[in-house]
Amino acid sequence: MAAFAAAPCAAHAPPSRRTAAAAGLLMLAALAGGCEVGERPLPYGNAPPAQRLSGQRLLAQYQCGSCHAIPGVAAIRQSTRGPVLAAFGRRSYIVGQVPNRPDTLARWITEPAALVPGTPMPAMGVSPADARDMAAYLLALE
Ligand code: HEC
Repeated sequence: MAAFAAAPCAAHAPPSRRTAAAAGLLMLAALAGGCEVGERPLPYGNAPPAQRLSGQRLLAQYQCGSCHAIPGVAAIRQSTRGPVLAAFGRRSYIVGQVPNRPDTLARWITEPAALVPGTPMPAMGVSPADARDMAAYLLALE
């Protein structure tokens, strides 16, 4: 049960953790990566409901879903150019490189190349306030 719950987490972890997972240390890898397992609460999933709702609307408004599959967010045309953002609240890292927290995720959304130079994710002209709301919604996805 714990190993099953940890699997999606380990799949997104950096290679060293992936190796540990392959060695049958799924639970250990999940804990080392700050991954939550089972019924434990999301580390940053408790933003006020109004902020999360605002983020959900903004994600649709900016059409982030044109590149990402995001639970609860519709897109006019969906492509798979970007990674699936399901269960993003349980991710330890943004694109496997940047610790996934409210401040770093909001920064990523406003200016992805500032965190990961050369990333194919475009800057979408999102204001810092809007990005914080979007991050609140994404971090509540489990
Ligand atoms: C043109 C396509 C495109 C659009 C539009 C887009 N993204 Fe992305 N996004 C990407 C790509 C490609 C990546 C992977 C970047 C990398 O690997 O460096 C990414 C990565 C991400 C990640 C990290 C995913 C992971 O697996 O760690 C998040 C979060 C994210 N985008 C959020 C957003 C939000 C929020 C918006 C809307 C404001 C948005 N994206 C709009 C293409 C897009």
